[in-house]
Amino acid sequence: GAVGKDGYRHYMEKELHEHPLVIGQTLQRMIDPATRRVVLPEMPFDLATIPRAVITACGSAFYAGVVGRYWLEEIARLPVDIDVASEMRYRNPPLTPGSLGILISQSGETADTLAALRGFKNAGLPILSILNAEHSSMARDSDAVLGTVAGPEISVASTKAFTAQLTVLACLTIAIARMRGELDADGEEELVSALLDLPSRAADVFTHGDAIRQMASVVAEARDVLYLGRGSAYPVAMEGALKLKEISYIHAEAYAAGEMKHGPISLIDRTVPIVATVPSGVLFDKTLSNLQEAKARGGRLLAFTDEVGRDRLSAIAEQTIALPKVHPFVTPIIQTIGVQMLAYETALLKGTDVDQPRNLAKSVTVE
Ligand code: G6P
Repeated sequence: GAVGKDGYRHYMEKELHEHPLVIGQTLQRMIDPATRRVVLPEMPFDLATIPRAVITACGSAFYAGVVGRYWLEEIARLPVDIDVASEMRYRNPPLTPGSLGILISQSGETADTLAALRGFKNAGLPILSILNAEHSSMARDSDAVLGTVAGPEISVASTKAFTAQLTVLACLTIAIARMRGELDADGEEELVSALLDLPSRAADVFTHGDAIRQMASVVAEARDVLYLGRGSAYPVAMEGALKLKEISYIHAEAYAAGEMKHGPISLIDRTVPIVATVPSGVLFDKTLSNLQEAKARGGRLLAFTDEVGRDRLSAIAEQTIALPKVHPFVTPIIQTIGVQMLAYETALLKGTDVDQPRNLAKSVTVE
C-alpha cells in the first residue's frame, strides 16, 4: 500500500508514535495561532442556542464521545445524551427539537453510526460529524464536519484517530462554552494553552516504554484484567480495556472506580490485575480510596498517574507510571496514550497478530 511502517514492527506501533503529530495537526486546523482562540468552520446552525447534544458512535469512537460528554457538560454546561450507535438507532429516543446530533467515526462508514445519523436527520436534528475520512458516507449526510486530521489509520485497533477525536471534542467544547457564556477570554486562554502544550507532553509519554513493558509482563500473565477510573479517566479505562481485549485477547472490563463495590470487588484477587487511570486532580483522592479497597482484598494495582500523583500512588501500587503532568482538562488524552501502549506491549508478549486481530474489521460497514 501507499502507507509503509517506516521501520516500526506494526502499523499500530507507528500510529501510536504519531499521537503527537496528529494532535498538533488537528490543533493547527482548529486554533488560530495569532489570537490563540478556537475557530470553527461556518456551520448552518447556531451552536450558541442548541438546547442539548446527542452523541453516538461505535467502538473507540464511542469512548471518545463519553470523554466529550464529561467536557461538554462540565465546561460548556451543555446537557448531553450518549449511547452506542447500535442502541441509539433503535431506541427511538424523544429528541429535543434543535438538539445537535454529534457523530464520531474514523472511517465515516460504520453501518450503525451511519444509520443513527440518518435517524437523527429524519427527526430534523442538525448533524455535526467528527470524521477522519472527510470524504465518506457520513460526511455527505452531515450538515457540518470537523476533521480529525489523523491521516490514514491502517491498524484495525484505533489509536491516533482516537486522540485526534478527543482533540476535536476538546476544541468544540471550548467553542461552545464560549458561545454559551460559560468561558471568558482568560478561561479560554488557559484551556487553549493546555491543548497547545499537548504535542510535546504526548511525545514525553514514549520515555516510559520500559515501565510500560514491565507492566505488560504482569498483564500478559492474566486471564482477566480490571480497569478502573473516575470522571474523564473512566472512558480512558474503557478504551484501555477495549484495546487490550481487541489485540491481546485477554478479557478486560472497565468499571467506574466508585462502582467497584457494587460487583467487581468480588472478583479481586492476586490473579486479576487492576489497571487504574488516576491523574491528579479533583477525583484523585476518591479514586485512591477505591484503589485502597481493592488492594485490601489482595488486588495487584498497576497505576497510570502523573508526576503530582506519583508518590501517593507508589505507596500502594505494585507499579506506578507517572505520565507528564498536564492541565486536568487534557489528562484523558495523555492517559490514553499510556493505556494504548500497555495493550500494544501486552499483545507483543502474547504474540498475536497486532494489526489484524482475529474476527475484527477496521470498518464495520454491515449491521
Ligand atoms: C471497529 C474498529 C474500531 C473502531 C470502530 C468504529 O470496531 O476495530 O477500532 O473504533 O470500528 O469505527 P469508526 O470508523 O466508526 O470509528
